[in-house]
Amino acid sequence: MYRQGLILLCIVGIRAINPLENEIAHPETKSHPNPKLPASEMPLELDIFKLINVSSKDQGVSLVEGPIVKYPAYKFRLPYGNVPLSNSNIVTETMNNTKGFTAIFLYRQQKNNLGTLLSVNSPGRLTPWFQLTSNSKTGILTLKYRLRSSNKLNQIDWGLPRHHRKSPLAAWIWLSVSMDFQEGLIRLDLDCTPSSFEGIPSKKGLHSTIGMPKEALVYFRQEPGRKKKFLGSMQVAKILPYVSHERLWNCLEISAKLSPEFQKPLL
Ligand SMILES: *[C@@H]1O[C@H](CO)[C@@H](O)[C@H](O)[C@H]1NC(C)=O
Ligand SMILES: *[C@@H]1O[C@H](CO)[C@@H](O)[C@H](O)[C@H]1NC(C)=O
Repeated sequence: MYRQGLILLCIVGIRAINPLENEIAHPETKSHPNPKLPASEMPLELDIFKLINVSSKDQGVSLVEGPIVKYPAYKFRLPYGNVPLSNSNIVTETMNNTKGFTAIFLYRQQKNNLGTLLSVNSPGRLTPWFQLTSNSKTGILTLKYRLRSSNKLNQIDWGLPRHHRKSPLAAWIWLSVSMDFQEGLIRLDLDCTPSSFEGIPSKKGLHSTIGMPKEALVYFRQEPGRKKKFLGSMQVAKILPYVSHERLWNCLEISAKLSPEFQKPLL
């Protein structure tokens, strides 16, 4: 059933995501039934906030305003813990898709914070299968991943958009990472800067997948063995069991040359 759904989705669902009618309620899209990707529900999405039942009643969590209007954003402070997901296998099964998957985050990180957005590890192991870390001190986003075919830990570092103090909305980072095992490509979209592509190592022309074991655990905001937690606000934290070939938000212009406040999606 699930497989059939996936195949159908690959043919129909992904094509149906038109980047011109995406995430933010601006005048032309108001009449659209699904106007706010990635805030609105995307096909087969896994919403991490729903999985952990985050709520402003949790100690250390408050509701804040994010760039997507009329959609909750949460600010995480200490002592909010809730780091390992109790229902990890829903996430690892989603990420275990042999064709690939996409992770999407919309967040505003505190200064000088080393924050792991998501980490998937075997129990008791510090080396992740997949891990995304945002470091607001160094301004670097790090992806680490391990393929089924090798013990090597692959690492990619990307520069994060610069923090822009004068314009609070500019400090929010729109991020999407797709692991495309069919094409052997990793695609990163950050705000409205040009997409970055990195190759996934292949053996004899065959691309490997991550192949997470059944018992793998999923950590949100912190990696196992480290005390540092992601601190700041987050409005979207989702995993899609397919590769997104398009940016999930609207941009006026895709350019690396614009100053940071203009690199943001249309609001
Ligand atoms: C979240 O809430 C749902 C329904 O209220 C419950 O079934 C689930 O166990 C809760 N999950 C967590 C991680 O608390
Ligand atoms: C991922 O797929 C592999 C191979 O099909 C399987 O052995 C493994 O248990 C799967 N992991 C999860 C988390 O479902």
